[in-house]
Amino acid sequence: MSDFFSSGWGVYIALVTGVGIVWCLYLLFSQRKTNVTYKPDGSVADTGHVWDDDLRELNNPLPRWWMWMFLLSCIFGIVYLTLYPGMGEYKGTLGYSTTGAHDASVAQANDQLKPVYAKYMGLDVKQVAADPAAREMGQRLFLNHCAQCHGSDAGGSKGFPNLSDSDWLYGGEPQDIKTTILGGRAGVMPPFAHLESGQVSDVANYVRNLSGLAADQIKVGRGAEVFKANCAACHGGDGKGNTAMGAPNLTDKVWLYGSSEATIVETVTKGRNGMMPAHEAILTPEKVHLLAAYVWGLSNVKDKTAK
Ligand code: HEC
Ligand code: HEC
Repeated sequence: MSDFFSSGWGVYIALVTGVGIVWCLYLLFSQRKTNVTYKPDGSVADTGHVWDDDLRELNNPLPRWWMWMFLLSCIFGIVYLTLYPGMGEYKGTLGYSTTGAHDASVAQANDQLKPVYAKYMGLDVKQVAADPAAREMGQRLFLNHCAQCHGSDAGGSKGFPNLSDSDWLYGGEPQDIKTTILGGRAGVMPPFAHLESGQVSDVANYVRNLSGLAADQIKVGRGAEVFKANCAACHGGDGKGNTAMGAPNLTDKVWLYGSSEATIVETVTKGRNGMMPAHEAILTPEKVHLLAAYVWGLSNVKDKTAK
């Protein structure tokens, strides 16, 4: 009842429930004997109600079994409402509550997991990643908390990085992965609205050329200047990126948003803002530890069946 500000609702509910039961009992007792009238030939007289020409309502008493069922359900209701909460704010003699039951089963599960977690917390992430049982726990956590964005195989999709390769926006050491999970990440690629479309096309060709994709070499030559002036600060003079701000390496074959000239032009003119949400408030340190081990293991544990 804690959702209501006023205790009036509790009284109202208790009243409706109580009066309902008393009314049922009254009805039952008032109807337990009917004045059954018999015709001279010994058959039960009807009430005078006739439908469809010959469908007559007889004046039989209510069946005994039905009366007992009704009475038993009233008694069950009264016993239940004495033991369990139901009558407004009355808590019931057993002191049961659904939130209490939920808290108790969460506490029980935590108690069971404590020794398991303690074992893994004593090991570093790389050691945990070597344990198949730990990776399995990590995978289940991943499916619950991360798969909706990164995919159930951690393979990612457009704008959501692949976590199973060895290319990292923010670094792939266990500590980098933990920092990412706990604090989240915000990738900020600013829009370059001030560049002319020719310059954007030039720099897009320059970027494609960096990873050996087909490009117009005249534009590549011009694009080098645009890149040095506008992009090198974040992506590095060599285009290899910067993990401190999550600026992707533009010289490899891994693309977060896409490698076509049109997509790169879109990236440059509109900017990109990939958001990895912080999980510090949602996950316990033990879960983050297992998740980091699972994610690190995806690209570093070669033989997934070995112990
Ligand atoms: C709401 C979507 C979303 C969820 C949920 C999410 N992520 Fe992410 N994650 C992202 C995005 C988007 C990025 C890339 C951020 C960027 O572009 O800068 C990212 C980046 C990362 C990175 C950095 C990758 C790199 O290359 O450096 C790691 C590691 C990661 N996520 C792990 C996780 C784990 C583990 C979970 C589950 C606890 C998780 N993510 C849940 C969207 C999500
Ligand atoms: C302020 C730093 C910054 C500057 C300046 C910058 N970028 Fe970026 N760039 C980023 C970040 C961060 C990302 C990743 C965005 C994300 O995670 O959503 C990115 C993403 C990209 C991507 C997408 C890569 C992929 O894998 O899909 C391309 C292409 C790109 N930048 C090209 C450029 C070009 C060309 C310039 C210059 C015109 C430039 N950037 C200037 C920070 C920068």
